[in-house]
Amino acid sequence: MKIVMLGAPGAGKGTQAKKIAESYGVPHISTGDIFRANIKNDTELGRKAKTYMDKGELVPDELVVELIMDRFKEPDCEGGYVLDGYPRTIPQAEALDSALEEAGEKLDYAINVDVPDEVIINRMSGRRACLKCGATYHIQYNPPAVENTCDACSEELSLRDDDREETVKNRLEIYHEQTEPLEKYYSEHGVLYNVDGTKDMDEVFESIRTIVGN
Ligand code: AP5
Ligand code: MG
Ligand code: ZN
Repeated sequence: MKIVMLGAPGAGKGTQAKKIAESYGVPHISTGDIFRANIKNDTELGRKAKTYMDKGELVPDELVVELIMDRFKEPDCEGGYVLDGYPRTIPQAEALDSALEEAGEKLDYAINVDVPDEVIINRMSGRRACLKCGATYHIQYNPPAVENTCDACSEELSLRDDDREETVKNRLEIYHEQTEPLEKYYSEHGVLYNVDGTKDMDEVFESIRTIVGN
């Protein structure tokens, strides 16, 4: 099963992708998480990506496409995957389509988590992230068991560098400009499904289950 998660920054793509991965036994691949892990480990890729991410801009397509194509070569991708944060531009979607076509495969679902901009800004300020394992929490809507500590790996949680309000506004602007057109793209490919992302996390997941089935 191959799924793409679409939606604005903070719509809940990562939250839902984790649930899909657990429930359907496919790997959760988040380009944002991969970049943040590289930044944490101070790799060359991380240093390149950071200059864009801190401003809320997109990392150039060449870098992202290369990264994702490498990731697809890992054996855990054989049974499919849930992509979170990729593709984010039309050229990235086209690169994915060419790779799938070459392998004689196809995308099953593009799930668009729909949340208006006002709700997003409130969500981001309360988000706390584990930079070690990628788990995401919210101080109000999804708090960890022990304050500021990751449930999964006990790492101390952090506020993401790009979650400052000004940067969030910039990310939203870039989303509307460059990423939202993917809704039309996938709709034309007959694989677009919309879910209301303003509901609580479990209800959103129920809507996704209805689409994907068991
Ligand atoms: P990335 O990490 O992908 O960030 P994003 O798209 O901005 O999305 P977020 O991770 O911020 O939000 P999310 O939708 O995953 O929401 P979450 O589940 O955490 O990318 C970061 C940067 O990396 C980009 O800006 C770019 O620079 C670069 N990058 C990455 N991929 C790239 C690509 N393909 N091309 C170019 N550049 C790329 O939820 C948000 C908060 O809300 C959490 O606190 C959560 O607990 C809470 N929440 C979730 N669902 C609900 C709910 N239903 N009700 C209440 N609260 C909820
Ligand atoms: Mg995310
Ligand atoms: Zn963790």
